[in-house]
Amino acid sequence: MTSDRPNGVSAGETGPLSFDTSVAHQARVYDYLLGGKDNYAADRAAAEAALRVYPEWAFTARANRALLGRVVRFLAADAGIRQFLDIGTGIPTAGNTHQVAQDIAPESRVVYVDYDPIVLAHARALLTSHESGATEYIDADLRDTGTILAQAAELLDFAKPVAVTLIAILHAIPDSDDPYAIVRRLMDAVPSGSYLALSHLGLEFLAPETLEEMQGMSSNIQQRFAYRSGEQVARFFEGTDLVDPGLVKVEEWRPEPGNGDQGSSALWCAVGRKR
Ligand SMILES: C[S@@+](CC[C@H](N)C(=O)[O-])C[C@H]1O[C@@H](n2cnc3c(N)ncnc32)[C@H](O)[C@@H]1O
Repeated sequence: MTSDRPNGVSAGETGPLSFDTSVAHQARVYDYLLGGKDNYAADRAAAEAALRVYPEWAFTARANRALLGRVVRFLAADAGIRQFLDIGTGIPTAGNTHQVAQDIAPESRVVYVDYDPIVLAHARALLTSHESGATEYIDADLRDTGTILAQAAELLDFAKPVAVTLIAILHAIPDSDDPYAIVRRLMDAVPSGSYLALSHLGLEFLAPETLEEMQGMSSNIQQRFAYRSGEQVARFFEGTDLVDPGLVKVEEWRPEPGNGDQGSSALWCAVGRKR
């Protein structure tokens, strides 16, 4: 099937992506970088081209996925969170949010959201909840917070704390779509004691010429990426208190001993508790 969209998602356009295997998609490129099998020639070509410009993309993807596990473990085990709204879920792989959370607290309830049809096609793997908890999948665009919150309310109790996880998704939202207002709308819907966790491409981590080359390659992938500075990423956390160690690179957020995977990622991350 051919796409009815130009490359990139233009401002204000929301809704599921078309299933176009001739253009690389973020979810499938990430899957390839993680060593997965749910990707097509266009995704592999885009990933290989990106790796030639910046070889740390593969480590960045692995470090991001490892971060997701550590963050969800922290939220379930240390912060006592039992409800998760995981937006930008990605293609299911090892250590999906509900598996990590329910290993610690089987009663955890997880709502997944993604707009990519390939993620929807694999959503069954996300609906394998422990019988004491529950999971749901919403096929929606992050920018459509009204739909997301209305549908999530069928599974989550918004009177109780919720962890909103936006792991490696917000850089796919351009400034013209006001990502700060999107995060604000989500965090306004959850009570004090809720958490925001996110990772985001960092402007400081790529040399200017590498960044320019990456941006010049944006026509071979569906999403356009907005690299943001640490200061810009920190602004997403207004109204929250950051838990230790604050805003750091993903591999530096509460690293666990024994992980021999070494490298330097291009992603900021932090976790904040709503005041
Ligand atoms: C790099 S993957 C991250 C997957 C997972 N969160 C993780 O960190 O392992 C980003 C995901 O965000 C999804 N995504 C990007 N923009 C989106 C949007 N506007 N609405 C919903 N999902 C989006 C992509 O389809 C992709 O599956």
